[in-house]
Amino acid sequence: MKAIVVTGQAAATAGMKLVERPEPQAAINDVVVQVHASGFVPTELAWPSTWTDRRGRDRTPSIIGHELAGVVIALGYGTTGLSVGQRVFGLADWHRDGTLTEYVAMEARNLAPLPGDIDFTEGASLPISGLTAWQGLFQHGRLQPGQSVLAHGAAGAVGSMVTQLARQAGAYVIGTGRAADRQKALDFGAKEFVDLDNDALEDVGGVDLVLDVIGGDIQKRSARLIRAGGTLVSIVGPTEARPVDGLAIDFVVESDRAQLGEIVQRVRDGRLRTNIGTVATLDDAVAAFNPTERRAGKTIIHVRP
Ligand SMILES: NC(=O)c1ccc[n+]([C@@H]2O[C@H](COP(=O)([O-])OP(=O)(O)OC[C@H]3O[C@@H](n4cnc5c(N)ncnc54)[C@H](OP(=O)(O)O)[C@@H]3O)[C@@H](O)[C@H]2O)c1
Repeated sequence: MKAIVVTGQAAATAGMKLVERPEPQAAINDVVVQVHASGFVPTELAWPSTWTDRRGRDRTPSIIGHELAGVVIALGYGTTGLSVGQRVFGLADWHRDGTLTEYVAMEARNLAPLPGDIDFTEGASLPISGLTAWQGLFQHGRLQPGQSVLAHGAAGAVGSMVTQLARQAGAYVIGTGRAADRQKALDFGAKEFVDLDNDALEDVGGVDLVLDVIGGDIQKRSARLIRAGGTLVSIVGPTEARPVDGLAIDFVVESDRAQLGEIVQRVRDGRLRTNIGTVATLDDAVAAFNPTERRAGKTIIHVRP
């Protein structure tokens, strides 16, 4: 089968290669999924799980990409809850070969049924951005109605989900990003927008929750805006910035069947819009993940035509 692999951290996304690999076998509690569409986040390449297994042993060349939508074609020993022929979507284990390929073996519990009225491309765009936003806001951020949320990168893949989910939960959302993203962020539900290149972030005043997708100096400055008891949640590396009197949390998204079900239901009933910018084939995936110009929205790889 065709697969996109990486062999060394230094090469980053430019080091991705399209290769031939043997098809995987289903282990206990696994399924094998025929991948129809797949996504990828660049931070994967910075996480140890891309390079080693759970015992710390080198597992390169590693198949990257960990979100997918597809069809179950085989069940492992003792696997329950899913059946052969079922449409599914979900998030594969970070320590195992991933989803930028034609077939993946993964634990059934990391998948949820994909309703027939959601296409595979949409389904593959939801696990990482949807679950990250959900877990950042509701699990780690403990968002309450009436609170204010600073949603960085609000026109991006995660930020647009954060903006929509926070707004629906009764929060006041202040989005940030590039000047060109203002209208997109407002359309996703932000009440205000801060152009980080030209506006003063500090003019925002106090907020209860910061959802950071940028890091560095923006993260540090955002921490100072947090009201007493508020939280800074980061998804881009160790949180150095501490709110004066609140929590700082850095996390990596994990799969959750119930949350995937909630997210896809919101897409079905029109409460959540996906944010897909580019769709490419597996043959063109390396170029798609190394764009020469700025790309808005999420890149999804259509594995099966
Ligand atoms: N920890 C986790 O579990 C987890 C999960 C998902 C994603 N991530 C990571 O989180 C980050 C965001 O992911 P994503 O998929 O949402 O990416 P994305 O679609 O590229 O969205 C990020 C948005 O933020 C904007 N942005 C970034 N830096 C900025 C700056 N300095 N000033 C103004 N705007 C800025 C980007 O604009 P430009 O494109 O112009 O820079 C883009 O609109 C990535 O690094 C990703 O790898 C981590």
